[in-house]
Amino acid sequence: MEFYKTLEMWYLNNKRDLPWRKSSNPYFVWLSEIILQQTRIQQGLSYYNTFTNHYPTVLDLANAKEDNVLKNWQGLGYYSRARNLHFSAKYICNELDGKFPTTYKEIIKLKGVGDYTASAIASICFNEKTAVVDGNVYRVLSRYFNIDIPINSSKGIKYFKELAQELIINANPKEYNQAIMDFGSMVCKPQNPNCENCPLENGCLAKAKNMISSLPVKEKK
Ligand code: ADE
Repeated sequence: MEFYKTLEMWYLNNKRDLPWRKSSNPYFVWLSEIILQQTRIQQGLSYYNTFTNHYPTVLDLANAKEDNVLKNWQGLGYYSRARNLHFSAKYICNELDGKFPTTYKEIIKLKGVGDYTASAIASICFNEKTAVVDGNVYRVLSRYFNIDIPINSSKGIKYFKELAQELIINANPKEYNQAIMDFGSMVCKPQNPNCENCPLENGCLAKAKNMISSLPVKEKK
């Protein structure tokens, strides 16, 4: 079975039950992705609930006082994320007629949104075939394809982005991107990966060559 199919099937049976997955509302998905940029899911959950309760629409967030937004962010750190959320909410309401942008190209223009977050929102909400690349993706791809190009080199960044983009082409982008995120954190883990129960084990080149624990490679800077 093709790589993307195996991951999608695994996801169907194993996906984490997360509140932002119950909706394709781009405003909610945007909130969740900004919260998760530097925060673990367990810690982020209560903040996601607070923000969606206090500001159920992008207009509510835009109309909030900055102090109030920062107060609700308290404890999460990296406060520029909260300021950027508030700034972007006002931008969406004032400049985009309250309509959340619908393409990767437009979404990445929002303050605080980089390639990963724009790819996640565009794929999850608008079915765009934009592959996410984060630590999970580097780990899964470097192992499955046994690639030892350093993931923090400019060559590696380009190589893995292109590979990820090729792999999503026939996939359902919303399912596939979230599948590889969950798979990387639940099965193909940094330490003690669960190779015994891995649906990709048959095709995994690092497993065949006994290279799992050496991948991914990071170069010292
Ligand atoms: N980490 C960042 N975005 C995520 C998502 N949508 N699902 C699971 N983990 C994530």
